Amino acid sequence: MGLLDGKRILLGLGGGISAYKGPELVRRLRDAGADVQVVVTAAATHFVSPLALEVVSGHPVYQDLWRADAGSRIVHTDLGKDVDLIVLAPATADLIGKIRHGLADDLLTTTIMACRTPVLVCPAMNTEMLGNPLVAANIDHLRTLPRYTFLEPGVGLLACGITGPGRQPDPPEIIQAAAAVLAPNDLVGVRALVSAGPTHEPLDPVRYLGNRSSGTMGFALARALAARGAEVTLVAGPVTLRTPVGIARRIDVETADEMLAALEGAFPSSDLLVMSAAVADYRPRERQDTKIKKRASESDLSLPLFRTPDILLSLSRRPDRARLLLLGFAAETNDVAGYARQKLVEKDLDWIFANDVSTAELGFGPGDNAGQLFARDGSVTTFDRAAKDALATALVAHLAPTLSAHRATLEASHP
Ligand code: C5P
Repeated sequence: MGLLDGKRILLGLGGGISAYKGPELVRRLRDAGADVQVVVTAAATHFVSPLALEVVSGHPVYQDLWRADAGSRIVHTDLGKDVDLIVLAPATADLIGKIRHGLADDLLTTTIMACRTPVLVCPAMNTEMLGNPLVAANIDHLRTLPRYTFLEPGVGLLACGITGPGRQPDPPEIIQAAAAVLAPNDLVGVRALVSAGPTHEPLDPVRYLGNRSSGTMGFALARALAARGAEVTLVAGPVTLRTPVGIARRIDVETADEMLAALEGAFPSSDLLVMSAAVADYRPRERQDTKIKKRASESDLSLPLFRTPDILLSLSRRPDRARLLLLGFAAETNDVAGYARQKLVEKDLDWIFANDVSTAELGFGPGDNAGQLFARDGSVTTFDRAAKDALATALVAHLAPTLSAHRATLEASHP
């Protein structure tokens, strides 16, 4: 199971230096489950070998509008119609300019003009070119057309030696953006609040109590909700993850107390809370201002610990709780179903997703996940082992009808 399972993508490469990343992008799109065909502009072939693209895509690579290298097939009218999405990476100033003005003088631009397939545009170019008012105006104009979705270029050291915006985003970001374009837009209007990652409870300036949560599952859920149109606020503990595509707001916190404060602030303007953070259950009673020194005379060190607030429990007891749907998580090492059901009731949740973290391969970290979703009405849905991104997509797809119905009910009661 991948983010782009069964999707057919046409990757168009413009003639920018980032075209050299094309074969890797093709491979990663295929790993995500997509079938990928490639069209290159003449300029792109200066930066990347069509043969390499042919080998990694498993399809002929088309480049010439005038050569009959596809037999009797009318390539430029067929290519775009036979796919679900066109991805332009890199989208150069020239390519964007031509599309904006309806010009079609090569196979790639002709293909785009000859179909209505959605286009994900990934501009990548020199910072000055990107900021040029003519290029910016072309981008702004295309943004107003629903067919074109833009993925912001990254900021970094560019081939020309300057550091600034213009870098082609890495494949995972392009894949996320592609999945978002292709996802149904059934969660528009749903305001989702998602917590993710661990909390760190400081002992002194250099040490903390924490846990092994990486935040991957929470970030994947935030991305999957945003992909279907939800307005997502992501409250993240200390993690090293980049903000997923489409997230409206990210609030970074460190401790359980800070996470509680951030979630309480956003709770009244949310319709859904996804509490996937692994909140530390205890914190040191005191935080030392200077580093705790080891003493030669003492082999043991005892630290008094205090319970942290149970964030989900306290939020579920608020008077405005009824406005929201609540999804909790239970990471257990034994009697997973028993503990999950107990927490569903104790914390007054609509659902709890339970996963077994007793094995090293599942649960924590960037790897796979699997588990069962227990609902308030007693139903249980099993989610088989999959990459977290794909599992999050499946989980959100399962919840989507209930989420949009909930939103409709809220709108009807407060039009
Ligand atoms: O730790 P526990 O198994 O009780 O976690 C179940 C749910 O409660 C999870 O969704 C977790 O995010 C939440 N929780 C919390 N505050 C805590 C501990 C857990 O919100 N202090």
